[in-house]
Order: sequence, then structure tokens, then C-alpha cells
Amino acid sequence: MLVPRLIGLAALAIGIAGCAELRNDLRLGFAETARIERGKAHFHSVCVACHGEGSQPSPNRIAPRVEMIAQRYSPQGLARELEAIADVGHYGMPTVRTTPAERRDLVAFISSLQSPSAAGR
Ligand code: HEC
Repeated sequence: MLVPRLIGLAALAIGIAGCAELRNDLRLGFAETARIERGKAHFHSVCVACHGEGSQPSPNRIAPRVEMIAQRYSPQGLARELEAIADVGHYGMPTVRTTPAERRDLVAFISSLQSPSAAGR
């Protein structure tokens, strides 16, 4: 009678492990959603004045629309670019200071606009 009991225990263990994984995924999902929301709010208070969003053309003629930025950069590339922009700007773009936490949020938001086929470039 030991074998069925062991099988039962093993099934229980697998079940518990599965739950933990699911809980982890949910937690990461919430953290990511919160990051995207903060990034969006930051973008709308600071960046949208020049970069625009949606179908409207960019308010600043030479500033690419945010969707364009999302297509052009991988999340890692964008993080590096925003760090450089916080120091020295970007050609025609003035220095726009951001903290590392703000940059993480902005990257999460901008990357969330990326179409799946363009992700990871
Ligand atoms: C005062 C206007 C202005 C503001 C505010 C501004 N930008 Fe820009 N940004 C520009 C312009 C103009 C360019 C294009 C510069 C060029 O290529 O000469 C640019 C370029 C960029 C690029 C590089 C795009 C590329 O295709 O290489 C990124 C990334 C970027 N901005 C992100 C941001 C983010 C994020 C914010 C908010 C934290 C922001 N910008 C706020 C004007 C602005």
C-alpha cells in the first residue's frame, strides 16, 4: 500500500509546485502591468509633448512617434538609449533626465507597444 500512497504524494507535490509557478507568473504579470502603467503616465506627462502617440503626427516634426521608437529598439537598446538621453540628449532631442526606475517603467511601456513580429531586435 506504500506505492499508491507515494504516487498520491508525488501528484500532490507536483500540484503544489504548479501552483507556486502560477502564482509567480501572476505576480510577475502584476509587476509588469504596474511598470507599464507608471511608464505610460510618465510618457504622457513628459514625452508626449514632442513624441505624440496614436494616429496623430508627432507634435515635434523631427521627434519619431512613440510607436516608431517601439519598433526601432529592443527593450535593452531602448534602456541604453534612454540612459544616454538622460546624460546628453539625442541629436535634436534635449537632455531629458530620468531615474533608473523611471527608465525601467518607460521601457516597459514603450516596449509594450511593439508588434510581436518586431520584438527582440
Ligand atoms: C522637447 C521635445 C522632446 C521631449 C520632451 C522628449 N523628446 Fe525624445 N526626441 C525628441 C526629438 C526631436 C528626437 C529626434 C532627435 C533626432 O533624431 O535628431 C527624439 C528622439 C528620441 C529617441 C530616439 C529615437 C530614435 O529613433 O533613435 C528616443 C528613444 C526618445 N526620444 C525618447 C524620449 C522619451 C522616453 C522621452 C520622455 C522621457 C522623450 N524622448 C522626451 C524630442 C523630445
